[in-house]
Amino acid sequence: MDKLLITGGTRLNGVVRASGAKNAALPILAATLLTKELITIKNLPHLHDITTMLELLGSMGCGVVVDEKMSVQLDVSTLNNCEAPYELVKTMRASILVLGPLVSHFGKAIVSLPGGCAIGSRPVDLHLRGLEAMGATISVEGGDIVASVDGRLKGARIFFDKVTVTGTENLLMAATLADGQTILENAAREPEVVDLAECLIAMGAKITGHGTDTIVIEGVEALHGTSYPVMPDRIETGTFLVAAAITGGKVRVIDTNVKSLEAVLSKLEEAGAKVSSGEDWIEVDMEGRRPDAVNISTAPYPAFPTDMQAQFVALNSVANGVGRVIENIFENRFMHVDEMLRMGADIEVTGNTAIVRGCERLKGAPVMATDLRASASLVLSALVAEGDTKIDRIYHIDRGYECIEEKFGALGAKISRVLN
Ligand code: EPZ
Repeated sequence: MDKLLITGGTRLNGVVRASGAKNAALPILAATLLTKELITIKNLPHLHDITTMLELLGSMGCGVVVDEKMSVQLDVSTLNNCEAPYELVKTMRASILVLGPLVSHFGKAIVSLPGGCAIGSRPVDLHLRGLEAMGATISVEGGDIVASVDGRLKGARIFFDKVTVTGTENLLMAATLADGQTILENAAREPEVVDLAECLIAMGAKITGHGTDTIVIEGVEALHGTSYPVMPDRIETGTFLVAAAITGGKVRVIDTNVKSLEAVLSKLEEAGAKVSSGEDWIEVDMEGRRPDAVNISTAPYPAFPTDMQAQFVALNSVANGVGRVIENIFENRFMHVDEMLRMGADIEVTGNTAIVRGCERLKGAPVMATDLRASASLVLSALVAEGDTKIDRIYHIDRGYECIEEKFGALGAKISRVLN
């Protein structure tokens, strides 16, 4: 089992390129199921979750051709089954994103009910209720979601009780081929939802209001092929900017999207970082200073993203002062804390709130990754800890961060992948 070995104490300095966004690529790959014409998706990140999604599409009989630059051409005209089996779904719950496109385009789908994961129970009731409102018949049989519709789905007015990113994406995709108008209210506004909508529009869908909490879709008879580049990964970008702030260094992230990180950039400035940006780059210069602690409260976009919460717990753990971090989205997203306590962090978790008292130095220790973003925060902590840190179960990291040791190594980090 691979591990990451990191020796702390180096100020990061340099330029790193943002990869394509995992959480935009996954729904966009699912959206290719909505057309039988050839479709090319570009700027895909080379991540395990992307490979899993391509495997899933291939298992349905779709033609999948990947080139060396991780552009993929998909041919859905050869699709011969509408099933997402447990073996694949259990490794990646975002497989649920094929449900809406399959029902809408092929009238049926059997998708294994995604289990919970480390950060929470992760229900999909809002996805299912929305599809039923559009006329789908849905049952859960032997752990599988079995969905079908005679003819086309019908446009409907759907109000989400909770803001759900993939719920919004599933129903947005289903609505593109439905008969009539669909209105999604209290919809997710995340940039990844907007990227999906832009891809669907490039395929001929009629969508307005994406990026607001009310999305209106006029169903069309068919969608056509296109060639579409996935947006840059804002969470990867934010993680590298926090790495500069936590080590007192200076890092510029290029090929990224400045407008998708306002809440994070404002917190980095509050922590004392000098933040500058251009058309497709963002730079954090900490000028050798120790960061100041900041208070964080996660919420749906455009507020502070839950996927950056663990990274800021790491920042606060070596900051001047005390920072309060409140996790409002997922019920169990502080698992990185126990591992950071092993490194000498002073953090107290009560319910969904972590009180982080900054200390001068963390100490390297063997730690274990528990989920994708938590594992990134362990890398950040290890970068500033005294001595060596060995991070186990780094398959969590490989799900969301492309070539993490190469990218951090290029910024001066002492990091390597070891077998044990
Ligand atoms: C997406 O997950 C992202 N994953 C997550 O990123 C991200 O943390 C999350 O949105 C929040 O921004 C992808 O886009 C593939 P939700 P998603 O539905 O869509 C509740 C990462 O690190 N809910 O927005 O599954 C749910 O329990 C991952 O890349 C229901 O109750 O999250 C949660 O409390 C982790 N019923 C809240 O809504 C539903 O039917 C928000 O979840 C759906 C969701």
